[in-house]
Amino acid sequence: MSSADRFLLAGVMGWPVMHSRSPALHNYFFRHYGLAGTYVPLAIQPDGLEAALRALAPLGFAGCNLTIPHKERALTIVDEADDLARRIGAISCIVVRGDGSLWGTNNDVHGFARNLLQQQPDWRADPGPAVVIGAGGGARAVVYSLVDRGAREIRLANRTRARAETLAREFGAAVTPVDWDDRERALDGAALLVNTTSQGMMGQPPLDLSLDRLPRGALVADIVYIPLETPLLAAAKRRGNPTVDGLGMLLHQACIAWKLWFDLEPEVTPELRATIEATLPTQTDVRADLQVGPRNR
Ligand SMILES: NC(=O)c1ccc[n+]([C@@H]2O[C@H](COP(=O)([O-])OP(=O)(O)OC[C@H]3O[C@@H](n4cnc5c(N)ncnc54)[C@H](OP(=O)(O)O)[C@@H]3O)[C@@H](O)[C@H]2O)c1
Repeated sequence: MSSADRFLLAGVMGWPVMHSRSPALHNYFFRHYGLAGTYVPLAIQPDGLEAALRALAPLGFAGCNLTIPHKERALTIVDEADDLARRIGAISCIVVRGDGSLWGTNNDVHGFARNLLQQQPDWRADPGPAVVIGAGGGARAVVYSLVDRGAREIRLANRTRARAETLAREFGAAVTPVDWDDRERALDGAALLVNTTSQGMMGQPPLDLSLDRLPRGALVADIVYIPLETPLLAAAKRRGNPTVDGLGMLLHQACIAWKLWFDLEPEVTPELRATIEATLPTQTDVRADLQVGPRNR
């Protein structure tokens, strides 16, 4: 049966999950292709993950995405995971194969690089040091992507230094752990700065990082996309640095999922971006939620 002959199903499992923009994004693709199908948010508690994943095949799902807190645990449940997911230690996308077995991969890696390249086509990973702030799941995808693209020096600062050290051990000599207190010094001579922490996200305080030592030509990227313009990106723009927001990473990884689930290759178009941007909170919503001013200078 081809994609056009059946009702197509996919979803995202998370706990909580209702904040996820993935349903708006994937349902845009169903409308775009005129396909009968839907993408649903699935609120799955951590102890229900295995049962929920095993239900995907009998329910007729093509696959699902995973978000916090399921990405790491899923690796121990799926029948097979690719090298990328194993290296990162997290699955962001599961495909239900023809025999009902589950195959996992991680689309965040390519989502990050494709977003950077779409927004800054001349970007390369190797011309100068990259500073990555954070060492969680998002950081793993970013570091993998940078190493994969030839980055020679990645300075990795995380509040909990041990996690930065673990990443440095796993990803090789290009990655140097930096003490949290030295994170601003690490900006000297950097060509790229990426925030992968949850700081700056709606409901969280801004990332505590002065950009004074960052060269004005350095590219500043944030993988947080709620709000679209985080305090870090706003501060970078004010001093003239080029910036890349985190929404494109989400959009690009979704396109990769459609290739895997439905053998279709949607593109990240201005219309898609505008559709999802319209679902994001405004700066006013964010300020009201936070009730503190940005600390990035
Ligand atoms: N654009 C996309 O497609 C995309 C993809 C993945 C993630 N994200 C976003 O990226 C963010 C992080 O996600 P994740 O999955 O990597 O989360 P995670 O695995 O829980 O990691 C969280 C990171 O934030 C750091 N952090 C938390 N509170 C902090 C604080 N008060 N000060 C300094 N650092 C702090 C943590 O440091 P410690 O190790 O010290 O706790 C850790 O490095 C989220 O906002 C998520 O929505 C976006």
